[in-house]
Amino acid sequence: MNVCIIGTGYVGLTTGTCLAFLGHRVTCVDSDPKKIALLQAGQTPIYEPFLSELIAEANGNLRFTTDYSEAIPDARVIFIAVGTPPSPNGSPDLRYLSAAAHGIGEHFDGDFTVVVNKSTVPIGSGNWVGSLLRESYEQQNRRKAGERFAVASNPEFLREGTALSDSLFPDRVVVGSDDARALETLYTLYRPILDQTFSAPTFLPRPEGVGAVPLISTDLASAELIKYAANAFLALKISYINEIGQLAEKVGANILQVAKGIGLDSRIGTRFLQAGLGWGGSCFGKDTAALVATAGEYGLSMPIVAAAREINFRQRERVIEKVLAELKILKGRTIGILGLAFKPNTDDVRDAPAIEIARKLLQRGCKVKAHDPVAMDRFRSEHGELGVICCDSVDQVAADCDALILATEWPLYRDLNWEELAGDMRSAIMLDTRNALDRERLVRNGFRYLTIAGLEGSADYSYPVIAESEFLEVMPRR
Ligand code: UGA
Repeated sequence: MNVCIIGTGYVGLTTGTCLAFLGHRVTCVDSDPKKIALLQAGQTPIYEPFLSELIAEANGNLRFTTDYSEAIPDARVIFIAVGTPPSPNGSPDLRYLSAAAHGIGEHFDGDFTVVVNKSTVPIGSGNWVGSLLRESYEQQNRRKAGERFAVASNPEFLREGTALSDSLFPDRVVVGSDDARALETLYTLYRPILDQTFSAPTFLPRPEGVGAVPLISTDLASAELIKYAANAFLALKISYINEIGQLAEKVGANILQVAKGIGLDSRIGTRFLQAGLGWGGSCFGKDTAALVATAGEYGLSMPIVAAAREINFRQRERVIEKVLAELKILKGRTIGILGLAFKPNTDDVRDAPAIEIARKLLQRGCKVKAHDPVAMDRFRSEHGELGVICCDSVDQVAADCDALILATEWPLYRDLNWEELAGDMRSAIMLDTRNALDRERLVRNGFRYLTIAGLEGSADYSYPVIAESEFLEVMPRR
């Protein structure tokens, strides 16, 4: 099928690459000429494991352009995957969505095209995009658009860092439209994924146990609501374990064991019960805010979602309280932050908890040093004004520091020369906000080890033993 993707961010680029890998002819359009030049030169504007490799495999089927007229007229399916960043009042800024809809309406030409909202858009956007498309088409062509196109919603469930695996081997595919032809077209497009008939790339083997993938086909509004409801549920699962973590700390319980103990109940599930600093990134904060705002438009409050948000913000505050309780005076202290990305395996620093922590520490008169194995350049260009000292190595961060804060659980931070680092610090304090480090090892090497969730309690005699690394969801697991 000829496919066009508008927007080459995490979602657009991943979707385009996967569809091209599966044999569709894909053209990706982006209004940013720098991004397109980079992609045409075989490089990627974002860090996502295996993306360059999959682009290389899909090469013959994947083109990049800034020109709508090269991509839209032949496309049978057009995905809108543009950014919908939060505006100052918290509601999503729909400027790029509107520009994409107008651009498509001016250029499309075929008998029947499906225009798919892939970006997370407010409920009702499907109708809105439909009216913009019709308006632009009719202005451009001086005739009625009639049945030439249909709008669908195909929410995205990929996670940054595991985006390709999540897209090729998803738990489900959701498509929503009020037009049966659109649903039929998307079913055909996704058939190789639904039936899992393609040969998996060698670097992304099909996880064990993946069989046919369910397709949920709905009306437009239901698909749009599924996206928000899914993200909000994941966000509140994290906030729930963080709330229990606060109590665990008070009563002397171990949150890792509590999470394991409740998560192995299959009705609850082990995933997204990793207690710690809470969520960041471009999705959970924005989507939970949008859900509360949409409900407000209908006179509903969403107390559960609102509470999840409050708990999440509180976790960041608790980091500062912990450091303050330990050092007593923050002015004049040097604090090192390990990890800037909002999670491991990405260079994305949008709403990264580390950045808010850095800002709060700087406001209180600390000097802040930081390291991240991948997100440093992006951090410098997006947050250079903060005045954080960027270091090339963990050793540089630790030198003369009063405390270290582990904010992102990059695997590299799990195995460091703790003895040497402790020796270089003014006071060897580690606040492990992700419960990712080996407490015993740090203590043995002279560190005072702190967390923001309860990690006391008895040793783990569980049988069969579930390794912590297996339980912590760092890489995709099924
Ligand atoms: C999230 C959803 O997981 C995806 O399904 C969805 O498609 C995406 O948002 C989106 O709407 O675009 P993402 O934000 O990329 O994906 O990353 P997650 O793996 O969900 O992590 C989000 C945040 O939650 C990270 O800061 C992570 O550190 C934190 N987290 C995650 C926890 O604190 N505990 C956990 O147990 C899991």
